[in-house]
Amino acid sequence: MTAHSEIETAANGDTRDRQCETHGAYPQTFISREPGRGFWMGRCEPCHAERQAESERRQRLQTIWELHGAAQIPERYRHARFGNCAPTTALQRAAMKTCREYVDGADDNIAQGVCLTLVGPPGTGKTYLLCAIAHALIEERVQRVRYASMADLLATVKGCWAWHGDSDAAQCFVRARVLLLDEVWMPTDERARESMMTVLDVRYRQRFPTLIATNLTAQQLTDAFGERFVDRLREGGRVLPLDGKSMRSACT
Ligand SMILES: Nc1ncnc2c1ncn2[C@@H]1O[C@H](COP(=O)(O)OP(=O)(O)OP(=O)(O)O)[C@@H](O)[C@H]1O
Ligand SMILES: [Mg+2]
Ligand SMILES: [Zn+2]
Repeated sequence: MTAHSEIETAANGDTRDRQCETHGAYPQTFISREPGRGFWMGRCEPCHAERQAESERRQRLQTIWELHGAAQIPERYRHARFGNCAPTTALQRAAMKTCREYVDGADDNIAQGVCLTLVGPPGTGKTYLLCAIAHALIEERVQRVRYASMADLLATVKGCWAWHGDSDAAQCFVRARVLLLDEVWMPTDERARESMMTVLDVRYRQRFPTLIATNLTAQQLTDAFGERFVDRLREGGRVLPLDGKSMRSACT
């Protein structure tokens, strides 16, 4: 029987079986509002679910691709992943574990605005860990993150303050759900200090986490940016000390 003659003879509510080559029979129902006209409704649900899953997978990959671009993770740390991570001291191992746990508990940590501060001498893996966190948050959690050094931030916000939230350039540091602020160093002037405090404070009020890496000790960080700055990082957050010889010599 042809589809045409079936349509002519079928009545509203009639059912039939169709055959999917992969999943077998599935039912269809004839939908008609006037005699001789109508259509058969019904699909192979497993096929439909597969198509939907594939479309969601592609959408997720596309989003991850875009998030990677927006994150501005430096080329040198493109391969920084917890899976490749090779800590060399007990403190480095402990810091890596805490960073990994931060990502594992990302839903709560991000919702609560939990901050991390990585402190330690040059070459001990602070930037590596920040970038491993960034990659994991993007790839596993599909989160919008932004990496920037303090110098990047200051260069961008220079001339944009006083802050009223209206500079597009500066907004990216405030809008990123997680900001990874690297190479935090002594501010050279009051304006730099103020800019850092303003970004941190706007983020703090939104409960947006800021993860910092610095060569400064916790005390120097307080001396450089003030107690109000450090206090915001500390609330519910963790300071992760790193130690060891610079890993740079081993890498060149
Ligand atoms: N856990 C790690 N596993 C593998 N390689 C690492 C790890 N940590 C650091 N490295 C490599 O060691 C080098 C120095 O690390 P990194 O740049 O993260 O140090 P840093 O603490 O940020 O230093 P600085 O304070 O000077 O910025 C980099 O080439 C980095 O890729
Ligand atoms: Mg670094
Ligand atoms: Zn099917």
